[in-house]
Amino acid sequence: MSTHATAEELRHVAQAGGLAPSVHNTQPWRFVAGAGRLGLHADASRQLKVLDPDGRQLHLSCGAALFHARVGARALGLNVKVRLLPDPSAPTHLADLVLTRGDPATDDEVRLATAILHRHTHRGPFDDRPLPEALLTMLSNAATAEGAHLHQVVAADELIELEVLLARADAMEEEDGRYRAELATWVHFGSPVEDGIPASAVASVPGSSLRQRDFTLTHPAGVDGSAPHPDRPAVVVLTTEGDEPRAWLRAGQALAAVLLRAADHGVQAQPLGQVTDVLAYRLALRGALGILGTPQLVLRMGFADRSPVTPRRVVDDVLLAVAD
Ligand SMILES: Cc1cc2nc3c(=O)[nH]c(=O)nc-3n(C[C@H](O)[C@H](O)[C@H](O)COP(=O)(O)O)c2cc1C
Repeated sequence: MSTHATAEELRHVAQAGGLAPSVHNTQPWRFVAGAGRLGLHADASRQLKVLDPDGRQLHLSCGAALFHARVGARALGLNVKVRLLPDPSAPTHLADLVLTRGDPATDDEVRLATAILHRHTHRGPFDDRPLPEALLTMLSNAATAEGAHLHQVVAADELIELEVLLARADAMEEEDGRYRAELATWVHFGSPVEDGIPASAVASVPGSSLRQRDFTLTHPAGVDGSAPHPDRPAVVVLTTEGDEPRAWLRAGQALAAVLLRAADHGVQAQPLGQVTDVLAYRLALRGALGILGTPQLVLRMGFADRSPVTPRRVVDDVLLAVAD
């Protein structure tokens, strides 16, 4: 028997990758299958040119897809060797994965793969249970293992600083007509489609006092716009030492590692992306929280029983098979 992954296994791995979170559910990735390997490529046509001109969030999203693919591969008993940015002359070629038959998946690897199906962005209120310290330590270790860091925002004055920066960043974006026009193309409140944000994913009662990105801005009739329900989520900031494509891909893998580990324990999250969309605000956040490194994404996290499922493109739309 060949030691290489079969075409069917590569398909499963790409499918796991495609269930990753992505900014505005753009799913800006493409997998290319060869003999026993997968290439991960950025789909520049799905980059948010206004919100994400440098492609930072595109790389975060593709890094998350890479982590999902790695987890999906291990669940099939495949070993994965990853090379990030294998071709300096092709910056959209983000990673190569070589997949060979390995040891059977451990129970823990199966749990993490199962969490792919349970993880969803949760925009409503979380329930009252605080996150156990042991879980926060586990999430922090998961981020560190992927080359990033998780900083928890606990002090009341830091939470206030964060809220002020979030509100300012949010207001600045909402005033920008180009931001609103781009958002409108990714919000799909009519018939369900396979990408973008559906009405069902936008909470009619948002959680907590922290300012959420308003997906109803361009589609006001979509939800009833109730006042936020006060909750007390854990608030964490994912940071990296560098701030370039390789660091962004690491941050994306760390993000997915944190989210899947959390989902395995019944905990969901919502990114509060407005405060990291623009470099000036990322630097202001770093100063306000006394963080070493660069903030890549802020998350609110908590226990949640039911979270909405956001649709994905079918695997045949994201996987290209090439003869080797
Ligand atoms: C880099 C990045 C930034 C994101 N920013 C936000 C955000 O600002 N607000 C929000 O509600 N969700 C945000 N999300 C979550 C996506 O909207 C979500 O992953 C996508 O709609 C797919 O839904 P799912 O996570 O439930 O599978 C972000 C996700 C990523 C990866």
